Amino acid sequence: MTTYPAYIIVGIAADDYLVAWQREAYKLLLMAALFCLATVVMGLLLWKSWLRKEQEITERKIAATMALEFSARLQVMTRRYADAQESERRSLSRDLHDRVSSSLTAIGLCLGLVKTQLPDDVSTSVFARLSDTEALVRETIMTAREISHDLHPAVLEYGGVLPALMDYGRKFSANTGIAVKVEGDQEIRYPPETEIALYRIAQEALTNCAKYANATTVMITLNGDVEHCTFVISDDGVGFDLNGLTDGKNVPGLGLLSMRERAEAIGGKMTLESKPGLGTRITVEI
Ligand SMILES: Nc1ncnc2c1ncn2[C@@H]1O[C@H](COP(=O)(O)OP(=O)(O)OP(=O)(O)O)[C@@H](O)[C@H]1O
Ligand SMILES: [Mg+2]
Repeated sequence: MTTYPAYIIVGIAADDYLVAWQREAYKLLLMAALFCLATVVMGLLLWKSWLRKEQEITERKIAATMALEFSARLQVMTRRYADAQESERRSLSRDLHDRVSSSLTAIGLCLGLVKTQLPDDVSTSVFARLSDTEALVRETIMTAREISHDLHPAVLEYGGVLPALMDYGRKFSANTGIAVKVEGDQEIRYPPETEIALYRIAQEALTNCAKYANATTVMITLNGDVEHCTFVISDDGVGFDLNGLTDGKNVPGLGLLSMRERAEAIGGKMTLESKPGLGTRITVEI
């Protein structure tokens, strides 16, 4: 028996096939176009956000540089201001010492002479007046001397900050009844601007103590060397709420602010710690 191969022809009409293929191709093309568009849009968005971030970083860098420059300039200005203030004080102190005190001394001497040359029959009231005037002149000489020394403490220049603070502390204790203890190495001498700044900071801290603290003792310590030192003024008084300084309820004082500026002008940093009932501590790190 002869066998014949059997063929099954499966197919579609060429037209139908082309249309389907074209449709698929269009779909693919459309998808590819959409994909490209989405990629471009995404890319643009990413680029834009990158640009924004870059801009933000640049702006932040500029702001940081400006802040640094500003703080450096502020430091220079504060130092200049402190220098000018000190030089003004020195000149006032000199004038007070050389012109006012010396004239007062001359007046005192004249009064003494007049007293010795008074006729014997001068009334006792005239003599008493002269004696009172003499005493008043002596007192005024003392006051002028104190003011001129306070304006330009010679001991600060000759002995350094600790001896000057001991001297100031003694007078402060005599006037207020608050004990002042000063500790530290008296041999170490710091740059003049540092010594003046620490002295003025302590003066303001002691003044605040006398005004508000109701303290019995103030402790002043200076530790470290010329490169790095820590200056602490602490009192055992009533303390205060630090938030009260910034809540805008009271007129802000200048003392704490100028202490901080003085510390920063010599490259230091001041920290203030206080709590009601727990005293106050001011630390200056240089
Ligand atoms: N040792 C202290 N004990 C208690 N309170 C203090 C002490 N030091 C400062 N204060 C408080 O901090 C506030 C601010 O002090 P700051 O020296 O800045 O200003 P002031 O003394 O009020 O005014 P100014 O110093 O300008 O004369 C004071 O009003 C006071 O309430
Ligand atoms: Mg004050």
